[in-house]
Amino acid sequence: MQPIINSQISNLKESATLFINQLALKLRSEGQDICHLGFGESPFPVPEPMQAALRENAWRKQYISGLGLAELRQAVAVFCKNEFGYNYSFENIFIGPGSKELIFQLVYLLEGPLIVPAPSWVSYGPQAKIRSKTFITITTDIKNGYRLQAEELDKTCSGLESPQKILILNNPSNPTGSVHTPDELRALAEVCRKHGVIVISDEIYALTNFGEIPFEGIARYYPEGTITTSGVSKAFSAGGWRLGFAMIPDELSEIKRPLSAFVSETFSCVSAPIQYAVLPGFKNYESVRKHVELCSAIHGAAGKFLQQRFVEIGLNCPEPQGAFYLFPDFENFKDMLSSRGISSSQELSKRILEETGVALLPGADFYMPDDFLGVRVASVDYDGAQLMQNFPQSGKASPEMYTSLFPKLADACERLEKWLQ
Ligand SMILES: Cc1ncc(COP(=O)(O)O)c(C=O)c1O
Repeated sequence: MQPIINSQISNLKESATLFINQLALKLRSEGQDICHLGFGESPFPVPEPMQAALRENAWRKQYISGLGLAELRQAVAVFCKNEFGYNYSFENIFIGPGSKELIFQLVYLLEGPLIVPAPSWVSYGPQAKIRSKTFITITTDIKNGYRLQAEELDKTCSGLESPQKILILNNPSNPTGSVHTPDELRALAEVCRKHGVIVISDEIYALTNFGEIPFEGIARYYPEGTITTSGVSKAFSAGGWRLGFAMIPDELSEIKRPLSAFVSETFSCVSAPIQYAVLPGFKNYESVRKHVELCSAIHGAAGKFLQQRFVEIGLNCPEPQGAFYLFPDFENFKDMLSSRGISSSQELSKRILEETGVALLPGADFYMPDDFLGVRVASVDYDGAQLMQNFPQSGKASPEMYTSLFPKLADACERLEKWLQ
């Protein structure tokens, strides 16, 4: 029998990041020497207090309220107030199986077009597509470090008739590692207020912030219209634990009833042992702070190293301020690449993987124009547990140490350099 499949789903590709990860791992298992700069998974161990709590709570087997464990929601509210100055009440916090799922449910239930800056994370577009939602990208400028500017948002919103619009702002950003300045957030907030935009502020990398600009979320400037999402995948390196949260402001509390019903009819609740296991991370952040800060310092050093090497090679690449990605472009090599038959980022990343063994993601997957010759680089191809031992405990590594700390990243740069000659 030929199954008939919902065309919104049958036309979806597998997530680009998961696809490149599988391909790179397959090539590696076949014996090829691959530098895997395609997949952004935090390489560090989960902080020990959280691992211990998981062991202690393995016996828990009950369903928990779909909103999440009250103690955890309370701990998250206090943590976010202390660390980021937010004022979300704990009753408005939803715990879900990863922030990805919560973003999906929010995008699904909120009417209006979905706006994202380009480049942006690969999953927002497909999530809008599943819901047949209008998806609008605003191509940002490398001159502004790919950070969305208030005027760009204003121009786009002015051309939209829908009374409600949704903006997903991912700060710090995957794929660019950029972090918005407080002034930029203030200006964006004003535009959002003017046009009645609901912001989903995806802050999954908020604690993975190593730049000179201290991290702030847009909820500081636009509390009434910002839903903030985050989780344990990046700072706590617990992606496979699948726990994220969404925080809804009182002014949008009408979302709570339908979201709660949506949760109850879909995933029901996040695994009980996992909810208890992440509790120490939020309730007693001091017990994991050093761990998180050391990981961030390592991400910072890896990012700095790659950015310096990319610029030496002749690529254009803003210096990352957070997350663990870079977004270099090969525009300076356009003519040479064109003579090799390469005129799109898909072709570029395919040929780089085939000819050098360096896995990267094409910029087009991040909604950049087809002829843009840029790629997304993840800077985490190293043994995180080992590096936590070897990295200077001060959190500061000198540039002379970079090659020995990050041999695979150094190797990838050398291969790219040779390939471009
Ligand atoms: C920008 C961005 N948002 C959200 C997520 C999803 O995180 P979670 O593991 O909480 O679902 C990721 C994961 O890669 C991401 O890069």
